[in-house]
Parts: sequence; structure tokens; C-alpha cells
Amino acid sequence: MKNNLGQRILKRAKKLIPGGNQLLSKRSEIFLPDLWPNYYKKAKGCKIWDLENRVYYDFAGMGVTACSLGYSNNKINSKIINCLRSGSLTTLNALEEYDLAKKLIKIHNWAQMAKFCKSGGEACMIAIRIARAYSKNQNVAFCGYHGWHDWYLSANFQNKKSLDGQLLPGLKTKGVSKSFSGSIYPFYYNKIKTLENLLKTKKIGIIIMEPTRSMPPRDNFLSKVKKLSKKYKCILIFDEITSGFHDYYGGIHLKYKIYPDIAIFGKSIANGYPISAIIGKKKIMNKSQDSFISSTMWTDRTGFVAALETLNYMEKNNTQKKLVDLGKFIKKEWTRVAKLNGINLSISGQDSMPYFSFSYKNNLELSTYFTQEMLRRGFLAGNLVSVTDAYNLKIIKKYIYAVEEVFLLISNLLKKKKKIPLKGPVKHSTFRRLTE
Ligand SMILES: Cc1ncc(COP(=O)(O)O)c(C=O)c1O
Repeated sequence: MKNNLGQRILKRAKKLIPGGNQLLSKRSEIFLPDLWPNYYKKAKGCKIWDLENRVYYDFAGMGVTACSLGYSNNKINSKIINCLRSGSLTTLNALEEYDLAKKLIKIHNWAQMAKFCKSGGEACMIAIRIARAYSKNQNVAFCGYHGWHDWYLSANFQNKKSLDGQLLPGLKTKGVSKSFSGSIYPFYYNKIKTLENLLKTKKIGIIIMEPTRSMPPRDNFLSKVKKLSKKYKCILIFDEITSGFHDYYGGIHLKYKIYPDIAIFGKSIANGYPISAIIGKKKIMNKSQDSFISSTMWTDRTGFVAALETLNYMEKNNTQKKLVDLGKFIKKEWTRVAKLNGINLSISGQDSMPYFSFSYKNNLELSTYFTQEMLRRGFLAGNLVSVTDAYNLKIIKKYIYAVEEVFLLISNLLKKKKKIPLKGPVKHSTFRRLTE
């Protein structure tokens, strides 16, 4: 597998494209440096064909959690093909924009208006712009990841470690405008005091957070956040770019019945077609009219069409129940196989997006070895699985069978305290920058 075609091309690509691609989470270095197939030729359901026609089951995130209904989904494809045949961008607007706004407002009856754009980062920029246009206090308290843009990264101006616990340690602010400096402050998940302290001292007008990430809210965390947002007259924004439409149709906040002022969706709302949505209360959303928020490509019809078909399919088929049931099964099987082999595993994540790590100092080495050995068995597999409707029990059992084999190898290595036989470098974790 060493010197595979994908890696050879990647080396050349790095001379033309800084870092080799546009998304950190799709870089070879975070899966299996020098050995990952890197490029695909074709994808269908939960299978991917690499450039050399090797076929893998995707248990490595299904397109960074975006493709819950499987790759190249026939139903969505046929709608998109019709859309392309009848024009995807014209001088007039796409009716599906209105249909999608209606659909999202129907699902979230606390919201009255919607805006659309293409990526998650953009959606977070728009949400903060609108919130600032409405709010007297301009400072932002945030919890989680919200994108690559200036307002988020500028959290590291006042304290170089602001983003350490939220994204990556040591993120530099080169190229980021200082204009947001001193206005963006982090608080920590399930630690309500960290938010309360900011609200008491920092003139916060906006709270933006992921309502869940790797762990569920504890001790009524979300309802406490909501109460504080009311007490301090803050706009509350839930960023559901990753959490939305996975465990729960409409987003995790509907499951917990805690309603924000604005919510943001992306990724899985259109099964990987580019579209993101910002929905919210009318009095706040209307403030976008007092600012200039506008872009040609946000009117592209394919995203609206794909989102409508994705949401209709999910609603009709109760997809989230399947995703959660299969995800719980994977968590249970990981626990069983780890126990059987005397391996200490830490398991977390939403049920539809289970995550594990090896509870050992050399977790990264062990995880690299896991990915290396799973690849040999025909699986793209890292520490995160994003469950897709394209899985079935038979496929998952194949995956678990391969996990059993690899965990047995790992168990023997651990017992005999042997060097981990890696064929390439150790993968980078999210705790190491990949931007050079
Ligand atoms: C919660 C959250 N917000 C924002 C983003 C940024 O989205 P994008 O990569 O589409 O810009 C992500 C991406 O993973 C995310 O998980």
C-alpha cells in the first residue's frame, strides 16, 4: 500500500494546493499518513473506490458526517438531475428556496424565518452578523467549533489558549483581523459557571454553542444556558452543523426541548450537497436587512433541491431512529470486543456518531495501527463512525468482525509490550496542527 497512487498524487498536489486539499478533516495525516488512499474515483452507499479500484466500506465518518443517507443516493440524484436539466442557476430565483424555508420553519415551530448559504463557517458568520445587528452588547461567548473565519479565530487574541479546549491547541492568528479582538470569549461544555462568569464580567450579547458534541448535556446544562441567556438578555444561537439531523430529526435541541433564538444547520441537511441554513426568530432575523448579507452562489438551486429531498426522505422513513439504533449497536460491540481482549477503551459521541479512543498513553499510535489494519481488511476506519442509512446489520457485523481481529492484534501487542508495527508515521490528532 505504500507509495499508492493516491499518495503519489497527493505529494504533487501539495505543490499546487497548500496542505493538499481544502479541509483539515480530510487530510491523510489525520487518518494514516503516507498510506491512506486519499482520493476516490467513485462512491455509492457506504462504499468507496480508490484510484486503483480498491473498494472500502466507509467507517471513517461518511464525508465528515455529511452523508447520512449514503453516497450518491439514487433518490436525491434523480431530483438533482432534473434540477440540472431545468437549470440550476438563473436570473430568477428557485422556488425550492421558499419551499425549504417553509419546511424548516414547520420542523422548528419556534422559528419564523430562514436564510441560506453554502458552508457551515459561512452560516456561523451570518448568524453572528445578524445577532450583532440586533443586540446592544456586541461581545460573544462561544462553546465548540464554529468555523475557520475571523470572528472565531480572533478568540485567541486576548488569550492564546482560548481555542485550545475547543478546537486545536496553539492555533495562530496570522492573517486574522484584529477588529474582533477582545470580543470573543470561550466557555466550556457542561461547566455552566464558565458561562456565568463571562456574562457577569464581559458585556456578552450573544451566546453561540454546539448543543452537544462528544457528550450529552449533564445536570440540565442546556436549560441553564437558556435561563442565563434570558437573564442577561443575550441572543442564544445553537450551532447544529454537525449535531443536526443525526440523532434527532430537526436537531438535538428538539430532543431536549430547549429552543434557541437562532439555529444553524449544514452538512447532513442535504446529504453532502452544499447548503447551510440559518433559522431564527423573526424580530432578530429581519435585522439582516439592516446589514449587507448577500451572495450569488447562495441562490444555487441544487442545495435547496437536495435538502428538500433529504429532509422528506428522513421524515418519511424515520431515518434518525435507524441511525441511533445502529450507532448504539456499534458502541455495544466496541465495548464487548474491547472487554474480551482486555483493552481499555473510552467511548463517547452522539449515538448516531459513536467515537472511541484507546485509554493508553500511546493512543495515537494504537489508533494509527487500528486504521492501518482495518484498511488491509477493506475498511476506511478511524475513531469516529458516522452512521449512515446505507449501513445494514450485515455490513456492520462485517465491520465488527474486522474490529475483533484488529483488537486481538492490539491486545497481544499490549500484553507483550511490543513496539506497534506501523508501516508509516503516526497519525496527527486533532491536538496537532495540520496547517503547515
Ligand atoms: C459545529 C460546527 N460548526 C461549524 C462548522 C464549519 O462547517 P464547514 O466546515 O462547512 O465550514 C463545523 C464543521 O465541522 C461544525 O461541526
